[in-house]
Amino acid sequence: MRKLIVAPSLLAAKNILEESKQIENLENIWLHFDVMDGKFVPNTSFSLQDLDLISKNTKLYLDVHLMIENPEVHFSDYINNGADLVTIHYEATNDLTALIKMIKDKEGVKVGVSIKPKTDVEVLFPYLKDLDLVLVMSVEPGFGGQSFIPSALDKISKLRKQIDENNYNCLIEVDGGINKETGELCKKAGVDVLVAGSYLFGKKDILDRIEDLKSSI
Ligand code: DX5
Ligand code: ZN
Repeated sequence: MRKLIVAPSLLAAKNILEESKQIENLENIWLHFDVMDGKFVPNTSFSLQDLDLISKNTKLYLDVHLMIENPEVHFSDYINNGADLVTIHYEATNDLTALIKMIKDKEGVKVGVSIKPKTDVEVLFPYLKDLDLVLVMSVEPGFGGQSFIPSALDKISKLRKQIDENNYNCLIEVDGGINKETGELCKKAGVDVLVAGSYLFGKKDILDRIEDLKSSI
């Protein structure tokens, strides 16, 4: 049975350090850290200082989602400030092969690639052998609190099949509109990592909700 990881999305937190601390000792937990530049997506989010703060004051595994233009220029800043995994967008670069190599050349960091809802999943197949993770966006990137786009499920199933048939060492993550119901659907489709923001942060029963999401189907 695959072990499920839950990655609460910090975008939905009000006090980022306090709320990160609340989940820091759980098992199979990552912290999803969204970076937005107001250009690749029409919104901005956290700074390098925010990442540094969380990195220095918690032991959480930092899953950094770069929704930015020119990721090749900026990705190393996030590694230097504590990212454990850097995920860049397929749509943000003209030379994905080179960018993946640049990130892999850095010691101790994992690399992921994300696709927006309108991008076909097949474009990722040639890269799967080199990736630690693929991130299927199940909302248009930029904002929390949107509804899950069901076509993400078919993408997850196709990735699961491709990864299993070829024995690739690549995790599948989904991000956007995840709650108990959509989380179940993604688990059935074969996901490894569930990102959830507004469903978790700010909720009194956040720890129960995380346990629920983690439980296998
Ligand atoms: C959206 C971000 C997500 C967001 C998810 O662009 O990448 O990580 O925080 O928020 P919810 O879970 O509320 O859809
Ligand atoms: Zn995200």
